[in-house]
Amino acid sequence: MDSGGKHVTLQLMLAVGTAVIGSLQFGYNTGVINAPQKIIQAFYNETWFDRYSSPISETQLTTLWAISVAIFSIGGIFGSFSVGLFVNRFGRRNSMMLANVLAFIAAALMGFSKIGGSWEMLIIGRFVVGLYSGLSTGFVPMYVGEISPTALRGALGTLHQLGVVIGILLAQVFGIDSIMGNAALWPLLLGLTFIPAVVQCILLPLCPESPRYLLINCNEENKAKSVLKKLRGVTDVSADLQEMKEESRQMMQENKVTIAELFRSPLYRQPLLIAVVLQLSQQLSGINAVFYYSTDIFSKAGVEQPVYATIGAGAVNTAFTVVSLFVVERAGRRSLHLLGLLGMAGSAVLMTIALALLDKLAWMSYISIVAVFAFVAFFEIGPGPIPWFIVAELFSQGPRPAAIAVAGFSNWTANFIVGMCFPYVEKLCGSYVFIIFTLLLLGFFIFTYFKVPETKGRTFDEIAAGFRQTAASGVEKNSPEELNSLGADSQL
Ligand SMILES: *[C@@H]1O[C@H](CO)[C@@H](O)[C@H](O)[C@H]1NC(C)=O
Repeated sequence: MDSGGKHVTLQLMLAVGTAVIGSLQFGYNTGVINAPQKIIQAFYNETWFDRYSSPISETQLTTLWAISVAIFSIGGIFGSFSVGLFVNRFGRRNSMMLANVLAFIAAALMGFSKIGGSWEMLIIGRFVVGLYSGLSTGFVPMYVGEISPTALRGALGTLHQLGVVIGILLAQVFGIDSIMGNAALWPLLLGLTFIPAVVQCILLPLCPESPRYLLINCNEENKAKSVLKKLRGVTDVSADLQEMKEESRQMMQENKVTIAELFRSPLYRQPLLIAVVLQLSQQLSGINAVFYYSTDIFSKAGVEQPVYATIGAGAVNTAFTVVSLFVVERAGRRSLHLLGLLGMAGSAVLMTIALALLDKLAWMSYISIVAVFAFVAFFEIGPGPIPWFIVAELFSQGPRPAAIAVAGFSNWTANFIVGMCFPYVEKLCGSYVFIIFTLLLLGFFIFTYFKVPETKGRTFDEIAAGFRQTAASGVEKNSPEELNSLGADSQL
């Protein structure tokens, strides 16, 4: 099985490194509107005044801002649904190349919105960069998975997640007012997204097309072979080729399931419900309320330098992503998800207490920082990585693409809802806004406890058999604990 072995060639490093620039872009644009919120809002206010000769009202400003933040996820929905249109027609590498056109358009729209005196440009730019991000989050894991040797697939696959959180952190650091988070330079902060796009356009032509695409989609065995030789740094790649052919043969055997069939068949009902609810648990946990609005939350909590607290949250996020990379492969998915949800709920309660007592005890602003850091850390332990792991593990080759599309749609939709509604709900509930997330988190905890089986170390057949049994007996025959121990056994 070990033709390329475990060694990482320069060519492989270059290809993976170039691809994850796309992940970085997604993270950057998730985090970038957080720090300069007040400054860009002031620009909206001025522009409004210039146009209509009257100041903008609170509500209008909140609405315009919420749209600017959340339209990113609408772009993401469309993007994630279009991944399939690109990858099989143009190939994986060229799809990534093409997507950069969107990054350039978005950078221009956002970067020139101030000169153009137009918040519409900024909003459309956010939509386009969302489109790019939706595509990217499909392209990157696929390309990286297909060029990596089997033994390294898991490890290299996690670089996508790492790229995302580093992107968020970079955006937060650049958003400091002495760097680019000020009235003069915020258009540059948003437009900076063109630099990674340029770098990726220069490097991509040096990267190979996915050998799997060449072999299976294009039937170009010789090209696939020569790419594999370069990627693996060895001359005999027959084992790799054999494995790919085997995989594609298995895929042919299993009929491709459409999204409509996925919803109709009772066989998939239970796993689909789990996949969707877990995606919702990731977004409705409130994590993006923090990544989009933490500077605002911190300044309301009386933190003196809210931007630095936001950067701290980004650093904690990155650190715990690295921790989870090591833990996720070893520990059970279900236990980690439960731990993460409970920890987040606890942190949200702490956050609420801190915000509520702020008037009486000034040091509560420090507690609010601790609470947000813990919130982010627990997110990266469970609800961050686990939902994507589990979706891929619950479905075999046939229904997997459809299941991932549905999961992606649920994820981006929930992302949109949080981005859009948080500022209104926060206005309405004040410091009690995190109680809502606490309740949601506890609901997801209960769902996970009773409904989600352990998937680690089990085959699709075993997992599917578990669902059939539960459906047939209707009782807790396959109690989660039982499944848990089953997972632990078969891991050996
Ligand atoms: C808009 O700007 C004006 C003038 O600077 C200011 O008085 C007003 O409070 C601002 N409106 C909002 C909603 O921030």
